[in-house]
Amino acid sequence: MKKYLNKRNIGRLLIVLLVLAQFKRIDKTPGDTNPDNDFLVLEEAPEEIASIFKTACYDCHSNSTNYPWYSNIAPVSWWLKRHVRMGTMKLNYSEWGTFSESKREHKKEESADYVGKGWMPIGPYKITHPEARLTDEQREMLVNWLNPTE
Ligand code: HEC
Repeated sequence: MKKYLNKRNIGRLLIVLLVLAQFKRIDKTPGDTNPDNDFLVLEEAPEEIASIFKTACYDCHSNSTNYPWYSNIAPVSWWLKRHVRMGTMKLNYSEWGTFSESKREHKKEESADYVGKGWMPIGPYKITHPEARLTDEQREMLVNWLNPTE
């Protein structure tokens, strides 16, 4: 057994696994993006606010995810899909119209909190999406719009 566990065989095994992994593709079927239910439409977001949300949040928190080329490559694709799944599960701005008034209030406060504290967008996303690295001014703008009382 030991003599088979050399570097070359481990390398071959990894290549075989990587090739096999490509067969397990992620589901990229777009969800419902009816503007009547969209957060930015319903909350009448000004253009500059809407454009920040679309570039920095909508890939993971809406049904209009833009999948980059590397989303075709496993296992990166699985990891990316997991973020999209978890993000939309917790908060899907494309379903805003289906939320109750109190849920909307709560999700707005949470959004302001996560943006204000710099928790969103998540770190790895910002590596490949420099346009989603929000400046302090952009964060402040979002927070003020989300939470006008603060
Ligand atoms: C790369 C994917 C990604 C991007 C981009 C992203 N998020 Fe998230 N977001 C997540 C994931 C995953 C979670 C769930 C895990 C967690 O709470 O840390 C989350 C959680 C949240 C939550 C908490 C929701 C809850 O119910 O707990 C809020 C609020 C939020 N994000 C807002 C935003 C806003 C606003 C933006 C844009 C400025 C943004 N996110 C960008 C992936 C993302």
